[in-house]
Amino acid sequence: MSEPIPPPDRGSWGSRLGFILAAAGSAVGLGNLWKFPYLTYRFGGGETDQHGAGTFVFLYLICTVLVGLPLMMAEILIGRRARRNPVGAFKTLRPGTAWKGIGYLGLLAGFVILSYYAVVAGWAAEYVVKSVAFEFGDFQSHVSDDAVYDRVWQEAKEASGDATMPRELAVANFRAAHPDDASLADAMREKKLEAYPVALFHDFLASPGRMVGYFLLFMLLTVGVVLGGIASGIERWNRILMPALLLMLGVLAVRVLTLPGGARAVGFLFQPRLSDITLEMLLFALGQAFFSLSLGMGAILTYGSYLKRSDKVGSSALAIVSLDTVVALTASIIIFGSIFSYGLVMKGSGVGNLFTAIPVIFQHMPGGRVLVVVFYLLICFAALTSTVSLLEVVASYLIDERGMRRPKAVALAAGIITIVGIPCALSFNVLANFTLAGKTIFDLFDYFASNIALPVGGIGIAIFTGWVLTHAEKREELAEVPTPLFRAWHVLIRFVVPVAVTGVLIALLMGRVSG
Ligand code: TRP
Repeated sequence: MSEPIPPPDRGSWGSRLGFILAAAGSAVGLGNLWKFPYLTYRFGGGETDQHGAGTFVFLYLICTVLVGLPLMMAEILIGRRARRNPVGAFKTLRPGTAWKGIGYLGLLAGFVILSYYAVVAGWAAEYVVKSVAFEFGDFQSHVSDDAVYDRVWQEAKEASGDATMPRELAVANFRAAHPDDASLADAMREKKLEAYPVALFHDFLASPGRMVGYFLLFMLLTVGVVLGGIASGIERWNRILMPALLLMLGVLAVRVLTLPGGARAVGFLFQPRLSDITLEMLLFALGQAFFSLSLGMGAILTYGSYLKRSDKVGSSALAIVSLDTVVALTASIIIFGSIFSYGLVMKGSGVGNLFTAIPVIFQHMPGGRVLVVVFYLLICFAALTSTVSLLEVVASYLIDERGMRRPKAVALAAGIITIVGIPCALSFNVLANFTLAGKTIFDLFDYFASNIALPVGGIGIAIFTGWVLTHAEKREELAEVPTPLFRAWHVLIRFVVPVAVTGVLIALLMGRVSG
């Protein structure tokens, strides 16, 4: 087929490094900094099992290489060949077929993910402000003894399943468990340390004004970057934010490795025991590899569409995947190293832990007051480089397919996403009781995107690349890849990726694993 001519207001990356940083920026996000460490911790059986975490990490690495990398190459290849947004790419490569449906699904996923992802990103922005303002400075003095007893009472009611338990009884039991003054004082202090960040976070969630305000702030930041276009907006900002992110991550990692629990965290991550492998672990590892690399909705495809013909697909994909993996592993070292050093535990998988557990951990750490600012700034940067890629997917569609100029496309896309996102921001307060099947709007968006749109899109992209594109088309795009490696990739994208992702999709829909 003849080479497609790119539409006028498209643009391209200034350099291959710019593309790699931008795509890695899309991939590195809350998935790396929170979800991966949490899953690893969970499969590590908290702190008890020495090998569970290593086994999970090992499976994750295998899934990243066998499923993530081939799919990333496929997305870049499609984008670069068609030089179009996800919808336009399928239209250009196979005109008049239903394949463009995969593009539309990706577009929809872009809308949906951005509208809730930017809400959480807004939390990180608020927490930068809180940590700069020393709001975590002195947890103890913020919580009264009475508030601790309330919490003790609450916990006792939950633990016993007896909602009618009198407060005095719960308090008496608590005191009886700590007979001498010193141990009671210790227990009170730990409770206060636990209670305050939770109360602080719930206060924030309960405030519609602040939730919407920080969401709007984050949308504005995202718009500011995307308005600048590819080379002088997205690429330029990623060139600043990504090195800054890696530097901050490095600073935190060095700090944690010098703590008593640092070395143990490394051992914890890298000692697999193959007999520990379970199907559940495999499904989680695969789902995480997929989400963490931003695959399945055409975000990487869109970024690939701004790549020059002369830039290599295979080695770029390898660089992006490596960066994403290194960040996930380093974040785990930081989080476990801190936990092991101070004997704390993580409770629950919710992203809320990022805002309740982390301040407590840093509270114990020498230099923690400054490092906690660094930590939340890191999350903001990681989130911003991800939200930018999500907005760009929708903007590129409006530019390519609807002939809009960039400013109009960005304003329209961001405007609609903001309107859709406000109910997400309100899901934690005003609209908390507005639920469907027990899920708030925020939960529903996350469920739809992570459990349906992304896996379905991933299967579609793999089948399209493996079975619909001709051998010549693929070979042309991967010209630099040596033949044995090309063959290996082809087997993976034709058989392994579709089968594996279908397995995850089924497991997700059956509720066996959560996205
Ligand atoms: N990869 C991102 C993370 O790890 C999340 C994500 C999934 C994403 N799909 C995306 C980001 C598409 C941008 C575009 O947090």
